Amino acid sequence: MAVQQQTVLRDAMRRLNMTRDTFANRIGVSRRALDTWLLPDGSPESRTMPEIAGRYVAEILERAPNGEEYTQRVQASIAFEGRSHLLSVDQFSRDSVEALFRVADAMQPIARRQKITRVLEGAVLANLFFEASTRTRVSFGAAFCRLGGSVCDTTGFTFSSMAKGESIYDTSRVISGYADALVVRHPEQGSVAEFARATNIPVINAGDGPGEHPSQALLDLYTIQREFSRIGKIVDGAHIAMVGDLKYGRTVHSLAKLLSLYRGLKFTLVSPRSLEMPDTILEQIARGDHVIEQTSDLRAGLEGADVVYATRIQKERFADESIEGYTPDFQINQALVNSVCGPDTLIMHPLPRDGRPGANDLATDLNHDSRLAIFRQTDNGIPVRMAIFAVLLGVEHQVQHSMRDAAWRSPAYVGPDDAVFHGID
Ligand code: NCD
Repeated sequence: MAVQQQTVLRDAMRRLNMTRDTFANRIGVSRRALDTWLLPDGSPESRTMPEIAGRYVAEILERAPNGEEYTQRVQASIAFEGRSHLLSVDQFSRDSVEALFRVADAMQPIARRQKITRVLEGAVLANLFFEASTRTRVSFGAAFCRLGGSVCDTTGFTFSSMAKGESIYDTSRVISGYADALVVRHPEQGSVAEFARATNIPVINAGDGPGEHPSQALLDLYTIQREFSRIGKIVDGAHIAMVGDLKYGRTVHSLAKLLSLYRGLKFTLVSPRSLEMPDTILEQIARGDHVIEQTSDLRAGLEGADVVYATRIQKERFADESIEGYTPDFQINQALVNSVCGPDTLIMHPLPRDGRPGANDLATDLNHDSRLAIFRQTDNGIPVRMAIFAVLLGVEHQVQHSMRDAAWRSPAYVGPDDAVFHGID
């Protein structure tokens, strides 16, 4: 089966670092035509790219600086200490992130339930979650299943032998005899690396306490890129406001580091004083040509941002009952967004939103605002996590050729409100 035209076009725009408008201009077609070529197959307005346009795109890429070198050099590779593990975003370069995203693009028809593959048939994933999780655990499991594998789960300490005092080393080694990959979430920073050192099967960090959450950062960046491509922006030069608990929030630690692989970003870090971004992360971002501003003034911090990335206060990680400066004014809601954000500002959140009294992270009154990208983020978790598995287990080149049509019927939009975003791809 030929590579899908959407994958080819997205890859080309990524490699040339062009927005849709610039790219449409470069290949001499209207922006509208390009949009219809980028829509998923099966959507009413999608169109097939004429062969001649496809040839022209290929020619442009060949002539691009380092065209040939690029194809050879940029293999999607994920390795930690020489072995296949995903523990930190520090393992990535800009090129290897983008190569991974190319694999994720190729997974889209499967994630959208149009196609199926069995490339991981027979493989078993062990999902070990020693901390609360809904989307990370289920989406890793679903991603593995959609590649044709099967999943074994364990949740919490209470029902695992760790409650009997078993070490990480023993647990990891034992599970390695049962499964072909290990996804681990654990409350201690550095613990998932300990799992990885005790096994030769791939280990993925699904959150190690306040440390990192690399797969979340990858799906966040993937979402930012896709949304930016639609609204005519590129990641270089973007203004990103990160809001909330930047001290204990592992998603922002990983995302800030990953974004710093790009050029000329402005980071506005908005948090109560006691929950500021750790110095180690700030130092790492500061190595690039980025501007970093820190503030506890939410309204001022959101001004001019291309992306507002809100986070939950990680109450489970510290004892203080009250956090100075964390008042109801610290909530991102429709009124605030309408008054300080632009029509194209993306509002993101790794979820869960804390909806309990006293929690102010992200209001539900934005649910019908197309700037709210939270469910596009969660949806993107599937192709990105499929890509991570495919690369770690070395089957990424087999996926394209293995795809068959899905036999069952699924709804055109998975959420009742998703039609509002029709054509948003
Ligand atoms: C986050 C986490 O667990 O770090 N959730 C997630 O995986 N999407 C964010 C959070 O719990 O606040």
